Amino acid sequence: MVEVKAEEIKKYLEELYREKITLIEISRVGGEGKVKLEEGEIKGYGYGEPLLIRFSVKGQVKKLVLTTVRPGGFGHEHFSDRAQMLLWAHSAYNSLPRHVRSLDVGCFNTDSTLTSLGKMEEAFLLTEYVEGEEYYRDLERIKRERRIMELDLDRAKALARYIADVHSVKGREKNLYVRRLRELLGHGEAIMGLLDSYRPDPSYVTTDELVKIEKKCVDWRWRLKGKKHRLSRVHGDFHPWNVKFKGELDFVVLDRSRGEWGEPADDVTAMSINYLFYSIQEFGELRGPFKALWTIFIETYLEETGDSEVLRVMQPFYAWRGLVIANPIWYPTLKPSVRRKIFNFIFNVLGEEEFNYKEVNNYLK
Ligand SMILES: Nc1ncnc2c1ncn2[C@@H]1O[C@H](COP(=O)(O)OP(=O)(O)OP(=O)(O)O)[C@@H](O)[C@H]1O
Ligand SMILES: [Mg+2]
Repeated sequence: MVEVKAEEIKKYLEELYREKITLIEISRVGGEGKVKLEEGEIKGYGYGEPLLIRFSVKGQVKKLVLTTVRPGGFGHEHFSDRAQMLLWAHSAYNSLPRHVRSLDVGCFNTDSTLTSLGKMEEAFLLTEYVEGEEYYRDLERIKRERRIMELDLDRAKALARYIADVHSVKGREKNLYVRRLRELLGHGEAIMGLLDSYRPDPSYVTTDELVKIEKKCVDWRWRLKGKKHRLSRVHGDFHPWNVKFKGELDFVVLDRSRGEWGEPADDVTAMSINYLFYSIQEFGELRGPFKALWTIFIETYLEETGDSEVLRVMQPFYAWRGLVIANPIWYPTLKPSVRRKIFNFIFNVLGEEEFNYKEVNNYLK
């Protein structure tokens, strides 16, 4: 938490008003009187406490409330959660009749300065450009040629070792594990969001079946909530479009998503389901070159981590990823029979205590 300094608040207001400002008083809303300033720093201030700022500008005394959000549960764990709430507040307050007016939204910087974000239209991220080939191109080639090279096996092993190493760092804020499971169900990009994006089509799934999937996943959420010991560093969107190979075994990953800490099964399923997916499209089942990649990826991961428990946790994550690959939004040209097999996979896996990766074709029936 940064030091909140009266001087910086004054500077910020002067930029906002483009006028000289005289600070009169900073106090806690609900008035336990003035805040204690030590060397200009507001002592004992904690995010979440609204501050009443009294100041004069052009001879007029004004009172404004500076609000921050208290870090904590209920989805307020990350500063980005709290930023999202206040960015939204600034964009919505002034359009509701009789609602207190919002003058600005901004942020405290690590150097205690304040920055206005009031003019913000859309956020952007600036990253390096990564040279190389996306991993999905390998899978496209293997599907085309129906055979693999030694390098393909080595790459699958390298990806399994990489993600095993990522997962070797365990998280301390155990409640983030429960949050991650909640978001696996309710996040717009996750199970409920995916289920809502489906227009029921009789040829491969019905609304009843979609409801059943959601209900089974709710049971899984309650079954897994107690496994907080599994909270680990994760990527969060570890799929073949987010990996670029620069050399034989040298690669860079893209697009980490939805939180730094979570359930390792998220990454294991995001990558492995694509070996199954490509194989079903080409062979109607897991077979040949893709079976070899599937087996070496999962077995290398289990060897590296010793985490056999993942086979009793990964089911709802496979369901989520299954809902992605079976979805016409992303894969409009799939045969209905392929989509049906993926939904069979989802159903059967959700009914399985321990995932049997050696007999995965049984789940396609
Ligand atoms: N920093 C980068 N350097 C090189 N290529 C990039 C970079 N970022 C994105 N790409 C390329 O653009 C493609 C799409 O980008 P991006 O991953 O952001 O899409 P996306 O919509 O986020 O997809 P998803 O969420 O499924 O990963 C990537 O597959 C990759 O090929
Ligand atoms: Mg991406």
